Amino acid sequence: MAKKLWGTRFGKKTSSLTDKFTSSITYDQRLAKYDILGSLAHVKMLARQGIISQKDGRRIAFGLNSILKEVNGGKFRFDPSAEDIHSNIQELLDKKVGEPAHRLHTARSRNDQIALDTRMYLRNEADSLAGLVAHLQKAIVRFAAANPNIVIPGYTHLQIAQCVLLAHHLLAYVEALERDKDRLFDARKRIDFMPLGSCAFSGTGLATDRNFVKKELKFSALTSNSIDSVSDRDYIIEVLADLAILSVHLSRIAEDLILWSTKEFNFIDIDFSFCTGSSIMPHKKNPDILELIRGSVGKIQGNLSSVIMLMKGLPTSYNRDMQLDKPPLFESIDAVRDILNIFTALFANIAVKGREISEKISDESLFSVDIVEYLIKKGLSYRKAHDIVGRMVRDCLDKGSKISSLSEAELKRYSPQLKADVKKILNAWASVNLKRSFGSTNPKLVRRQLASWKKRLR
Ligand code: ARG
Repeated sequence: MAKKLWGTRFGKKTSSLTDKFTSSITYDQRLAKYDILGSLAHVKMLARQGIISQKDGRRIAFGLNSILKEVNGGKFRFDPSAEDIHSNIQELLDKKVGEPAHRLHTARSRNDQIALDTRMYLRNEADSLAGLVAHLQKAIVRFAAANPNIVIPGYTHLQIAQCVLLAHHLLAYVEALERDKDRLFDARKRIDFMPLGSCAFSGTGLATDRNFVKKELKFSALTSNSIDSVSDRDYIIEVLADLAILSVHLSRIAEDLILWSTKEFNFIDIDFSFCTGSSIMPHKKNPDILELIRGSVGKIQGNLSSVIMLMKGLPTSYNRDMQLDKPPLFESIDAVRDILNIFTALFANIAVKGREISEKISDESLFSVDIVEYLIKKGLSYRKAHDIVGRMVRDCLDKGSKISSLSEAELKRYSPQLKADVKKILNAWASVNLKRSFGSTNPKLVRRQLASWKKRLR
């Protein structure tokens, strides 16, 4: 049984039920490295300030470094009976260096220690996840650049709408992911405050130097209210919220690809290496990875709610409830990391079915807006043009005919402005080329966007 940091005041042993129920070592062991790095900075400060002797400082640092080596080398065996990672490391240090270890916890508490550990952990994770988002963006840009001239039927309300470049649709993903990356960088700014030295919640009467610890650990600023320092979990909620938004994007991208890989859409073929089969239906090739990506998003949203609900009724200051922020946080981070990794690999394993797609874009209803704009350019009002094209579409649907097979005389009956040259715009390539507004699906503009993303993501 690990020793309790607070055991002396207790006249008797805690129940094993208490120990098991209150322990967080099964999950906060993930913070070991940061706990030790924080302690190393703290002990250096204590010795520098003369709060402990230089000699004790050196002994403690020696012990901590040797534990850190075990942690980094994956050799560290956590004590399952420890209350938490802080106690576990403290006890190990006691074993390694003896009496000087008793001075490490001077002028700090586990309340500010856990805030420090999670902030250091999240600073790293925010950077690392943003890096993985960038990898995914690059994979999408590569896929778009490999298929620059493919025009697909675009959808609104999941009903066939207008022609767009596949690359344009893909770059929509890149835009959304860019905002996700920005949000993580932005969260990092608020993570990057150093809370250690706030102690339990009121600060300390010892002559500490929090600024020194801040500089040692490369934080940009100090938290400036000791109560808020141990009370605040906004930075965790913020990361969870950022991951929740990011995961909604990932889920929607997955949904697009699931639809596109159906026989009904038939836009893409996902390589066998990224699909699974059916135990009963021999013909099946299922996009299970994409479905699991979509499915994982449920727990990522749930984890955000979990921590928000956890915090909402807590009195200001530290409460043990807050220990429970870690499992949801870690789960979301792990899930998003896994999704980003597999999604990046999957994007390199999709083939575009150009021939099948070109068969779908013969549906002339895709060009109705182009005909409306053709008439507007000839001076008709938007309303009038919309009515004319509406009538043409209705008649063609009723008769099962095509606009392109109407004679010049038939066209004229709809509007004297409607000439045979309108037929020239009734094809996918003409349709996308007619677009001119900034941000539209015009191939020249999309090519420019592709080039700019390639440069930005380099
Ligand atoms: N394990 C706790 C947490 O994750 C930190 C320990 C503080 N415990 C205490 N009894 N003051 O928040």
